[in-house]
Amino acid sequence: MIFNNNSEGLNIPIVDVNGSLYSPSANRNCSIIVELISKTIPNSGKALEIASGTGQHIIQLGSKLRQITWQPSDIDKERIQSINNLLSDNVIENINPPCHLDATKDGWSSKYPNQNFILIINLLHLITLKETKTLLSEVFSALAPKGFIIIYGPFMRKGKLTSKGDVDFHKNIKKSNIKLGYKNDISLLKLFSTLGFLHQKTIEMPANNLAFIIQKPI
Ligand SMILES: C[S@@+](CC[C@H](N)C(=O)[O-])C[C@H]1O[C@@H](n2cnc3c(N)ncnc32)[C@H](O)[C@@H]1O
Repeated sequence: MIFNNNSEGLNIPIVDVNGSLYSPSANRNCSIIVELISKTIPNSGKALEIASGTGQHIIQLGSKLRQITWQPSDIDKERIQSINNLLSDNVIENINPPCHLDATKDGWSSKYPNQNFILIINLLHLITLKETKTLLSEVFSALAPKGFIIIYGPFMRKGKLTSKGDVDFHKNIKKSNIKLGYKNDISLLKLFSTLGFLHQKTIEMPANNLAFIIQKPI
């Protein structure tokens, strides 16, 4: 497993005293991500988080946006266990138990239909371009009409890496698998349009990250 250590800092979860995973990086960017989401999406409906990791983001989102039913998910058993631990320590009725989801596999959208919001934080640099296309096509199918997707993480700008931290991190990821690494913002915008999404905004976020706000049309 590779973690995000661009200029936002290390995203290596550590084990806390209760045996749960805890990510210092998720702690740092949590409030800004919660604020962005709170002012972007409607305050009701169903939301799916892909690659929830330690669950720190969804716990805060669930506590703040109580009219939304939140579904955490991840591919990794340890992270699912950790989210379960977090949820047993903090009972938040509008957050469902986490589920196992490999978001790069064809067909998962049929199990999670009519989502009003899908959230993806710090995943796309860890999967291939082909997997990104499958993921976004499944996201399109899983979303209800007018549903939103927010994708947050480190990206190239017009094909270029724009900080030393990003250059180093991208190189490191590629060492483990040449097909992984940062995606280009322009290629993503083309992909959104090919799939039928409406691109609402791209926002510069702290630590050289980007947030893409995209909507499925009616
Ligand atoms: C860098 S961590 C980000 C976790 C969390 N979103 C955050 O920002 O703190 C990447 C996460 O993606 C998950 N992941 C990797 N490949 C995945 C896949 N194909 N489908 C779903 N989750 C995946 C990992 O298990 C891990 O929890």
